[in-house]
Amino acid sequence: MEKDLGNYRRSYEKSELLLKDTPENPIELFRTWFNEVDAHFPEDETNAMTISTIGLNGFPKNRVVLLKKYTFEGFIFYTNYESEKGLAILKNPKVCLSFFGQEPKDK
Ligand SMILES: Cc1cc2nc3c(=O)[nH]c(=O)nc-3n(C[C@H](O)[C@H](O)[C@H](O)COP(=O)(O)O)c2cc1C
Repeated sequence: MEKDLGNYRRSYEKSELLLKDTPENPIELFRTWFNEVDAHFPEDETNAMTISTIGLNGFPKNRVVLLKKYTFEGFIFYTNYESEKGLAILKNPKVCLSFFGQEPKDK
């Protein structure tokens, strides 16, 4: 079985992010990007994020969770402490978060 998804790609305008233009605190940059996406797609779950953990079995695992709050100290989401991800984070708190924000078509 093979399905070619090659033409699914949207053409994104290239924009640049220069270190000199970034705020000292990366959360400020996150706030700018989050607000931009949220303003253009208010119906979407802009706060959905992928969290990657290293599991107790040593393998990485991703899943989607909802960001409930962010502060200069970090990102907050709710989950069951006994869940697979809860146990994984207890063992190894190094996690990775990814957000996907569509670029508005009229931009
Ligand atoms: C849109 C969306 C939002 C979700 N939000 C959460 C969440 O905030 N917290 C959570 O524990 N699981 C959330 N889930 C379910 C997780 O993706 C995951 O399936 C579940 O937490 C079990 O993960 P684990 O067994 O690896 O711990 C969400 C799923 C979807 C599709």
